[in-house]
Amino acid sequence: MKLNEQQKKIVELKEEKNALFLVHNYQIPEIQVLADYMGDSLGLCREAQKVEDKDLIVFCGVDFMAETAAILNPDKKVILPSHQACCPMAAMLPTSQLKKAKKNHPGIPVVLYVNTLAEAKAEATVTCTSANAAEIVRKLDSEEVLFGPDSNLAYYVRNQVPDVNLIVVPEGGHCNVHRFIGKGEEALELKKKYPESELWAHPECEPELQDLADYILSTGGMVRRARESDAETFIVGTEVGLIERLKREHPDKRFLPAKEHAVCAAMKRIGLDNLYLSLVNAAPEVRVDEDIASRARDAIELMLELSS
Ligand code: 13P
Ligand code: SF4
Repeated sequence: MKLNEQQKKIVELKEEKNALFLVHNYQIPEIQVLADYMGDSLGLCREAQKVEDKDLIVFCGVDFMAETAAILNPDKKVILPSHQACCPMAAMLPTSQLKKAKKNHPGIPVVLYVNTLAEAKAEATVTCTSANAAEIVRKLDSEEVLFGPDSNLAYYVRNQVPDVNLIVVPEGGHCNVHRFIGKGEEALELKKKYPESELWAHPECEPELQDLADYILSTGGMVRRARESDAETFIVGTEVGLIERLKREHPDKRFLPAKEHAVCAAMKRIGLDNLYLSLVNAAPEVRVDEDIASRARDAIELMLELSS
């Protein structure tokens, strides 16, 4: 993609400020192409953990992702270009509710999806992402696990690790975008039209769609599968931003959304205008109280340690 004038200015400022751009796969293509690193939540955590020689981390994603980068980099400034880039799922598990659940189920490990706020992560034994949730639960080697907040990710983990009793908190936690993608009616129509295609579902998708899928993958897993697979057509059960990336990287393959218009409004709060302004002002900064950060850091670092 040829850069426009605004993108060129952003690149200049990025160099001037010695900034690192960490970009999630759901960002708009104009921002994707400016990334120093682009990936899924796990890849972004790993990148954030090894930042050394940068003065500023600019996170193009949503609140919980930027908070995680700030927790892993207490001595660095992390900015999120929009105050409104907030994942609704991350707000579905209030810390008070998690504490109550811990009281009702004392002594069992707490595995929290990274799509939670820092305060909740501070109450977790370990975090997980869509890429490693099953692996983390398996490696804890516990008969019972308190797990939250995504009930569809819990469905996926239960299928992968059936011996572990997953107690899910809150009831019905979900991603509205993946819920919108639905149970697979449109995907089945596409499968009929393209019988040789691969159907992918993100673990945040509804159980019915997961059951129909050939592969259940994180967004990073989808990027890898697109490289490895010999298929020509893919029906993609996740947010549209990832499909833009896949089309750019594989112009010879066909990527069809499992449902049209599955757009994450929170991710789309970041655009070139507020990205430019955030660099000029080095704001808005993401700050996490060190008391909370130090406990949340333990849970995130344990995830990175356990994750292959
Ligand atoms: P990934 O970690 O698979 O990119 O998922 C993040 C997310 O928020 C999906 O909705
Ligand atoms: Fe949150 Fe869903 Fe958007 Fe992911 S796609 S950031 S889970 S609202």
